Amino acid sequence: MSLLRILPDWHISDKCITPEASYQKRRAFIRKLGLGTAGISMGAGPLSMLGAEANAKDTKVSSLGYPFERNKDFNPSWKLTQQTVAESYNNFYEFTTNKSRVRYMVGGFNVSPWDVQIGGLVENPVTLPLEDCYKRFQMEERVYRFRCVEAWSMVVPWTGFPLAALLKWVQPKPEARFVKFTTFNRPNEAPGMRLGSYPWPYVEGLTIEEAEHPLTFVATGIYGKPLPKQNGAPVRLVVPWKYGYKSIKSIDRIEFTAQQPKTFWESLSPVEYPFESNVNPNVPHPRWSQATERVVDTGLRRRTELYNGYGAQVGRLY
Ligand code: MTE
Repeated sequence: MSLLRILPDWHISDKCITPEASYQKRRAFIRKLGLGTAGISMGAGPLSMLGAEANAKDTKVSSLGYPFERNKDFNPSWKLTQQTVAESYNNFYEFTTNKSRVRYMVGGFNVSPWDVQIGGLVENPVTLPLEDCYKRFQMEERVYRFRCVEAWSMVVPWTGFPLAALLKWVQPKPEARFVKFTTFNRPNEAPGMRLGSYPWPYVEGLTIEEAEHPLTFVATGIYGKPLPKQNGAPVRLVVPWKYGYKSIKSIDRIEFTAQQPKTFWESLSPVEYPFESNVNPNVPHPRWSQATERVVDTGLRRRTELYNGYGAQVGRLY
């Protein structure tokens, strides 16, 4: 992966970070105004949301139920990465390899309507219209660490539901040993896919035990609102103890298989990006160390934790 080479050399001052308390206060304030959260996502104050289009968007967001309650079992007090940073520093190769340009390249990406095909070795194959997730699953917010293989990290509040709930619904057959996830394949909407130098579509995979693990999360939102396109709208995976590339964006298909699927990055470089890819400070990437990580919004370095700090929960799997 050429990811590290294109890291822009920037960071913002600590002073710019929104402390958790004021983020929550602002959220409550906006809720009180009855304005939902779309104003935050657009980087505008609530007053600029009074146009008809903004109101329509807002009605849609609040009809989905955002913001959902934060689950207190998942690190509610961690200091969040500044929202504007999490939404403007992205890896989404279908659009561009330039992190700070992704959000400008997603305009032609059509995320509604969106159906996820779920099949393979399951008792109940289904086509899941995205909006049905909100009715079928108990939605919640969780705060997770997110660690990219490029040695940067964030702390993000995701909205969604555990993948285990989906597994329970579709009922994998006993022969199903792996779960394969595939991103949309529409080069006409995603300029990076027209370059032809990558094995599109983007594919990721987990073992069935990893997929069933209570930490494995299907995210439809961040920061109390639906996912922006650059962060993987309308639905993505979040596997917090693995490198970020395992957290596949904009999922189109979920398939249960007997064979281990070949993933996108693995097919490009199996030594650098193996299937398992758990965060591990003691196993350097062949081209750089994983011992420390750069916190994206402060620029400070911290020591990388085994399994990204989730060892107590997932250590038993390995
Ligand atoms: N999913 C798809 N479909 N395409 C991608 O390029 N990049 C991965 C992952 N999921 C990627 C993807 C990588 S390398 C990272 S670090 C995270 O998405 C970045 O997620 P973020 O932009 O929301 O921080």
